[in-house]
Amino acid sequence: MTEIIDGNAVASEIRDELTESIERLADAGARPGLATVLMGDDPASQTYVNMKQRDCEEVGIESHHVDVDGDAPPEELFDTIADLNENDDVHGYIVQAPVPDHVDYRNVIRRVDPAKDVDGFHPENVGRLVAGDARFRPCTPHGVQKLLESAGVDTEGKDVTIVGRSDIVGKPLANLLIQKAEDGNATVTVCHSRTDDLAEKTRSADIVVAAAGVPELVDGSMLSEDTVVIDVGVNRVDADNDKGYELVGDVEFESAKAKASAITPVPGGVGPMTRAMLLYNTVKAAGLQED
Ligand code: GUN
Repeated sequence: MTEIIDGNAVASEIRDELTESIERLADAGARPGLATVLMGDDPASQTYVNMKQRDCEEVGIESHHVDVDGDAPPEELFDTIADLNENDDVHGYIVQAPVPDHVDYRNVIRRVDPAKDVDGFHPENVGRLVAGDARFRPCTPHGVQKLLESAGVDTEGKDVTIVGRSDIVGKPLANLLIQKAEDGNATVTVCHSRTDDLAEKTRSADIVVAAAGVPELVDGSMLSEDTVVIDVGVNRVDADNDKGYELVGDVEFESAKAKASAITPVPGGVGPMTRAMLLYNTVKAAGLQED
């Protein structure tokens, strides 16, 4: 029987654990605060930001939100960032990506105080992660590691194929999984759109992580028996329903499930974990700033 890895259940456990730390910090006068910044009105980004606010409320993190007009000059976003860096009630914050085309996201990230960079995107935090001294693990890769742990998958000595080389998922996950650590020690292959014979790379893996942003890119024919499959993809595809779209992953679920020993669904797999690990990083940031 293939195990369906329940991201909602694992995320819920993590939120319960965090709630206790949050109350301890609040009792000491340092209730953790998380701010979200949204520039523009992309509907998917609005949904993500709303969900993050709700998560904060549930666990007792104080949430703040700043909207920046999508047509505003970049300086308006930079001023918002400068304010958040100075605000002692805000221990961590994220600038929701994507930002409008006239704003360079890298230039945005460099302005975030690294101690408040709960996405883990600032170059200082990227460098620390690569050096094996992470301050904040980026939320999605950290969530993937937690899901593997919850499914009893030991990564030591395993062949992991990651499909996707993004700065947010593929690159940091590869760096985490090769580290000399209990949740690392894997042999990692990172594939991308220019990889020759992707199926050969996925078939030779014990664990496949699909994070390319291509709907149903990986199917059962590309997997060996008993592979563990983690689907990071969240793709909106047209559908004949009320919303006019549905969410599908980067994995063709039914054929992959027939081969896999364990697999994450979309939705309900990695997505809730990304959100839970953002709360985790916020609590960590508040703890570090309290010291
Ligand atoms: N847009 C999609 N994923 C993310 C994320 O993890 N952080 C931010 N800030 N924006 C995103």
